[in-house]
Amino acid sequence: MCGIVGYIGKQEASPLLLEGLKRLEYRGYDSAGVAVLTEKELKLKKHKGRVTELAKHVSGNSLSGNLGICHTRWATHGAVTEENAHPHVSFDGKIAMVHNGVIENYLSIKKFLEGEGYSFYSETDSEVFCNLIAYHYAKEDSESETRFPDSVRRTLKHIEGTYGIAVICADHPTELVGARKGSPLIVGIGPDEYLLASDVSAIIRRTSNVVYLNDGEIVSLKNGELNLLTNDEEILTPEIKTIDWDIAESELGDYEHYMLKEIFEQSGALENAMRGRFSDDMSTAKFGGLNTTAQELRQIDRILLCACGTAWHACLVGEYLIERFARIPVEVEYASEFRYRNAPLDKNTLVLVISQSGETIDTLAALRESKRKGYKTLAINNSVGSTIARESDGGIYQHAGPEIGVASTKAFTSQLHILSMLALYLGRLRDMSFQDGLEYVAALKQAPELVTETVKLSDQILEISKKYKDMTDCLFLGRQDMFPIALEGALKLKEISYIHAEGYPAAEMKHGPIALISAECPVIVLATQPDIHEKLVSNIQEVKARGAPVIAIANRSNPLPKEIADDQILIPDCHRAVLPILASIPTQLLSYHIANLRGCDVDKPRNLAKSVTVE
Ligand code: M6R
Repeated sequence: MCGIVGYIGKQEASPLLLEGLKRLEYRGYDSAGVAVLTEKELKLKKHKGRVTELAKHVSGNSLSGNLGICHTRWATHGAVTEENAHPHVSFDGKIAMVHNGVIENYLSIKKFLEGEGYSFYSETDSEVFCNLIAYHYAKEDSESETRFPDSVRRTLKHIEGTYGIAVICADHPTELVGARKGSPLIVGIGPDEYLLASDVSAIIRRTSNVVYLNDGEIVSLKNGELNLLTNDEEILTPEIKTIDWDIAESELGDYEHYMLKEIFEQSGALENAMRGRFSDDMSTAKFGGLNTTAQELRQIDRILLCACGTAWHACLVGEYLIERFARIPVEVEYASEFRYRNAPLDKNTLVLVISQSGETIDTLAALRESKRKGYKTLAINNSVGSTIARESDGGIYQHAGPEIGVASTKAFTSQLHILSMLALYLGRLRDMSFQDGLEYVAALKQAPELVTETVKLSDQILEISKKYKDMTDCLFLGRQDMFPIALEGALKLKEISYIHAEGYPAAEMKHGPIALISAECPVIVLATQPDIHEKLVSNIQEVKARGAPVIAIANRSNPLPKEIADDQILIPDCHRAVLPILASIPTQLLSYHIANLRGCDVDKPRNLAKSVTVE
């Protein structure tokens, strides 16, 4: 987590840096800081709190200069204090650095540096990293043209852990150095200027030409030149990519919050997920980037779906979809568990990872571990050019547009839609009939329109939210493909409203959680599947009998009796391939309205960051 931006060019650095930093706040927002370097001095401002607070303290010309670095923090080592905020400056005042990542061997390095007479003002691993650069810098040949980047390169050889860094040196007021391993870093190339950033959103206002750094690469930006090399001093030719990004997509517009905007954008996100992805005879889907043949896919006899958080819930829905429609056995793993578990996989296993950001470190590690073991890997991903997109054997881009709200909404439903299309594609390579394929495609194509209808329930859901906004606990229940939607509903509610919520398979409730049921613990039930409707009604009766208020999400054609549902949200009837999408929308709106009514910061919930790039 943490967001970093660096600038070198002809403009005033600090306003550009802060503008870029605001766009990276989804990566962390507990403290922020900026450093600007001129021929005369290194100037620094740090502040506990958000970037807007920092901006108030960077007034007038106090931080004037054309070279600078800045950082928005999500604390890992050390409390949220001004001392622990970045940029960090070395003991001798020479080196200033911003860092995204975690240094695992920082304690031994710290001990070594203390033995060399260095002292530290913060509790962070990053300050230690910065001082190690200063240590090596002091040892380099002072006449060398490449003294500064060489000192960074030498330091990296002793660093264990992950990093995306931007570094400046008081003796080199025309040079900016960056490096990455495990944490993302890109270089933006503008006319007469370069930028370094954790991702494209921070720089897209200035340029759409970027170079993605790979792990183990260092870049030096100096005198209008970009020099890229590996940690082993191999000189590389930078590959410049042009980013296709509509700036308006990342603006709030008339919405109060990004989360609400993104809930309302879901219909368009589904359209984009489908664009150009149906075959000419329209009985199946097609994907351009799988880099695998239909014959190879027919030989797959098991699929492992792997992700974190909301994307993991998408995997659980994917399991139902692929097993039901393509008849291929599927397993779902938390990426963070899979990477440390030596799970036996058959050689005909396909590993499919899902990640909105494409930078989640555990998902990336699971992908790398799968590749190391020789499995075919694919990724569903929303960030063009992200590390996961670049490292997987093939993939499917979501094209859902930037998701800024920390709570994932449109990325989730777009992942579900792509999984539905994938289930169709794999199903048609096997047993699914032409006619079933045609019906399936028609259902998928109808989904955006049904989503538009479903988000219109927002006003009704606002009224329901007013009744329940003060609850302290609640349960979400669902069966089969509604169980992951229950889990996702509970996650959404707890992450943005801080209400304790659990998702459970409805019939499992009586094996334990039923002990929690009381008038103070509302239960949200996903009662949308016609084939198990009666079973679910029995589960709701068990809840009602113990006095809990019930909020039901049901189909328009099959509402629940009023005696068992205190409140009811009716979604349009639809095909099973689309149902998880429609059913999740009321849970998103419920979480949004409840959190908003409670005065919570919906887009930036406490303790969270959107992209988790630390273990
Ligand atoms: O970028 P990713 O999809 O890999 O992110 C995975 C999770 O960190 C993410 O879904 C997280 O759970 C969100 N807070 C959910 O709203």
